[in-house]
Amino acid sequence: MMKYILLPLLLTRVAWGASEGETLFKANCVACHQASTSDVGPSLFEIAKIYKKNKAGLVSWAIKPGRKRKDGIAMPPMGFVGEKNLELIAEYMLKAGAKATKGKRSKKPAFKEKLGAVQRAFMPNSSPVSIAVALPNGVSYCWDADNCYIRYFWNGGADFVGHLTGSGKSIPTLDSPAFYTVPKQPFFKDSSDREFLGYDIGADGLPKFRYRLSTFEIQEYVESRGLDILWHYKIRGNGVLRYDLPEIEGYKISVSEGKVDRGILTLNPSTMEKFTISLIKEGVRK
Ligand code: HEC
Repeated sequence: MMKYILLPLLLTRVAWGASEGETLFKANCVACHQASTSDVGPSLFEIAKIYKKNKAGLVSWAIKPGRKRKDGIAMPPMGFVGEKNLELIAEYMLKAGAKATKGKRSKKPAFKEKLGAVQRAFMPNSSPVSIAVALPNGVSYCWDADNCYIRYFWNGGADFVGHLTGSGKSIPTLDSPAFYTVPKQPFFKDSSDREFLGYDIGADGLPKFRYRLSTFEIQEYVESRGLDILWHYKIRGNGVLRYDLPEIEGYKISVSEGKVDRGILTLNPSTMEKFTISLIKEGVRK
């Protein structure tokens, strides 16, 4: 199975003596921005030249990136890092960039290491702000960080490296077609009122996505157990939530909380606190 590439989100807390800006930079930006080498994104050297006297401009770019260098991917919006944090990051980037030397544009494929399970990328049939996640059991899914829901699941991985370096196709090809496509935001809530709040990586290397939908704050985390897929939610909010349960050929669906009627799960504030939708692979066990 193909494992994806690690965004070194969390390898970084150990930077003793580092400024807060440096730590935040390493957690959020270093995957694509190095001091002297322009790999995925421009080097700090290049960025410092552009934004030397314009820290605010750097921060607004990070919140709402434009499109300049057409030979690579677009930068994902980083607003979820928070404006205060982006200011600290900008200070660090400008300082480090002023000290950096002019490097070459790298010819080697960036992200050669295939370590982690999370890959930010343009994905087919999803918004430009998408994150692909590989589960240990060989199933992958595509999280749409703009629309805040999983768009589809598929078996296998995808060819990210050429995509990331801009040397290949602009959109990765999936190893196999999606075996389940989520038709729309599964929560029956006004999905125009939503906000992606970021994600944390757990000890297992898998992301826990956080977002707000209307007045509900949601954490969503998918893991695998054998061939089964466990889709966990933790939700804080008042009122009733309804959820359109998936129907997937070859999987039996069960839920740990709430009431199910004709494929719709209904949750109240106490059952939504923590519940799991289990996709149990049929016909393979015991
Ligand atoms: C997934 C890769 C990726 C991550 C993560 C990333 N960037 Fe970028 N960044 C890019 C790419 C690609 C470009 C070039 C985009 C273009 O020119 O169209 C870019 C360009 C930039 C630029 C140059 C803008 C200009 O005017 O030329 C700045 C500044 C920048 N990024 C800041 C940040 C900051 C701050 C973070 C972290 C909070 C960050 N980036 C995280 C990929 C990334």
